[in-house]
Parts: sequence; structure tokens; C-alpha cells
Amino acid sequence: MARKKISVIGAGNVGATAAFLIAQKQLGDVVMVDIVDGLPQGKALDMAETSPVELFDSNITGSLDYEATAASDLVIITSGSPRKPGMTREDLLQTNARIVGIVAENVVKHSPDCILMMLTNPLDIMTYHAWKISGFPSHRVVGQAGVLDSARFRYFISLELGVSVEDINALVMGGHGDTMVPLPRYTTVNGIPITQLIATARIEEMVQRTRDGGAEIVNLLKTSGYYAAGASLAQMAEAIILDKKRLLACSAHLTGQYGIDDLYIGVPIKLGAGGVEEILEIELTDDELQALQGSAQTYREGIALLGY
Ligand code: 2OP
Repeated sequence: MARKKISVIGAGNVGATAAFLIAQKQLGDVVMVDIVDGLPQGKALDMAETSPVELFDSNITGSLDYEATAASDLVIITSGSPRKPGMTREDLLQTNARIVGIVAENVVKHSPDCILMMLTNPLDIMTYHAWKISGFPSHRVVGQAGVLDSARFRYFISLELGVSVEDINALVMGGHGDTMVPLPRYTTVNGIPITQLIATARIEEMVQRTRDGGAEIVNLLKTSGYYAAGASLAQMAEAIILDKKRLLACSAHLTGQYGIDDLYIGVPIKLGAGGVEEILEIELTDDELQALQGSAQTYREGIALLGY
């Protein structure tokens, strides 16, 4: 069987973290592309030199030229400016839209059959933008957000209860921003809803910390976090490349589900070799549905700013 090819556009912190983890998982050969000469080549060589230590056989290369990404099975776009303290993800809208537009065009030219995975913020808006530019069917364009947001929620729950992260599952829907919708009812410790284990007021604090999870790191690091975001991309890449059909919250194109039409937003999906293979419509209370639709409204205004 031919090896799979995964390209990561943007060899900054998050792109490099994702590339490194994908190579270590031996999902295929990895190509990193960036506009800064030396950055993708240097990081790729450094990562490749870990392969005899970590014992993986994926090739990792870096290039300035999209030609190197030709015929990729999966392309992950991380290009764009990260946040600085005090900035919302939405503050990055126009700058990153320009960058993502150029990148998506180049990606599609060289890999017309790939699955496109987005990371650039503001995530749900950039995913919509990349989908429009690509001309791909929407199942081949997916955004990463819910995996990261639910990882943060899971981590906070593990700290609170003193239990292994392995036993914690969490669902965070909505946009990747202040309006995200963590769902305690669908968040469980080995099947037990956290609503039975943690007091409501305390859950609300953890929900808020999850919503602020990106900003908490930006305030410490003075730029966006990247280990958890990179790991989340790698997990999604694994689901696609190995056709695992994971059920994960990701930014997907809705066509009426949850009363939301023609918008990318975080919902539970089945992620496999076909990309977004299914969008699940789970039961939500009126309050939960309102929160999701409220979140969607923010992103509708966001895509309108780009002329959609
Ligand atoms: C985060 O939540 C940067 O949006 C990314 O950390």
C-alpha cells in the first residue's frame, strides 16, 4: 500500500507540533510548507533526526514550494497570525482571511482530492472561507476546535476529581470562541455524567475556564498555545488516515441541523477517510440549543464581514 501523504501549511508552533506528532504516529510522510526560508526545512530536518531515537519511519521534509505538497491525502492549514494578549480570535479575521485564501488556492491546485483540515483562527470562519475558496464538497473540509476545547474540559475535570483523563469524555459544541457550548450533560466519567459527581456551581466554573482556555494560555505565553492544539490536529489526522470513524466534535458545514444553515460550527461528527462522514443531531435542551444558535449567530456575522 502506498504511503499516505500529509502536508502541514505553516511551520510555526502549532503546525510543527502537529507535524511532529503525525510523523511519530507513522500516519504517512509529512511535508511542512512555510513562507519563511529555512523554517520548514530546518524544523523538518530536526524532527527527522529524532526518528532513530523515537523509532518512526515517516519521512519529514520542509519546503517553501507548494509543489512539494502535490497529491497529499490530507492538508492541514495552520497559517496565519496567532493571538496576542487582549486579542480575541475574531480580531485576526481580515489578516488571516487573506492568508488562508492564498494558502487554500495553492493547496487545492496541487492536491485537488485531499481532505482539508483547518486550524487558523477565527476557526469556524476560516473553515468556511477555506471551504468556499477550495470549491470542495463540504465533507472534505473540516475544522479543529471541539477536540481541543473538550480536551481542556476533560483535563479540568480530571484535576477536580483526581481521576485519570482516560476515563473522561466531554462534548463541547459551538464555535471556537467565547460562545462555545460545553455540555456537562454529555460529559461523563466512565459513563457517569459529571452532573452527578460535581456541584453545579463548580461545573459552571470549569465550563467558564474551558471557554477561556485559549486566553488563559495567551496571557501566560503572550502568544497562542500549541501543544494541545497540535495534538488535537494529530488525533483528527489519525481518524482520517486510518479511517477510524471517530466520533468527535469538529467544525463542520451545517445545512439545517440544529436549525443552522450554511455555516461551519462545532458539532459531533463521524470523522473517517471520507472526512466528515456524518453530522450527528443529538438531543439538546432548549437552553443548550439556544446557546448553540447564539454561538452560530456570532459566526454568521463573521462570515458576513468576509462578504459571504
Ligand atoms: C486556542 O484555543 C489558539 O485558538 C487556540 O488555544
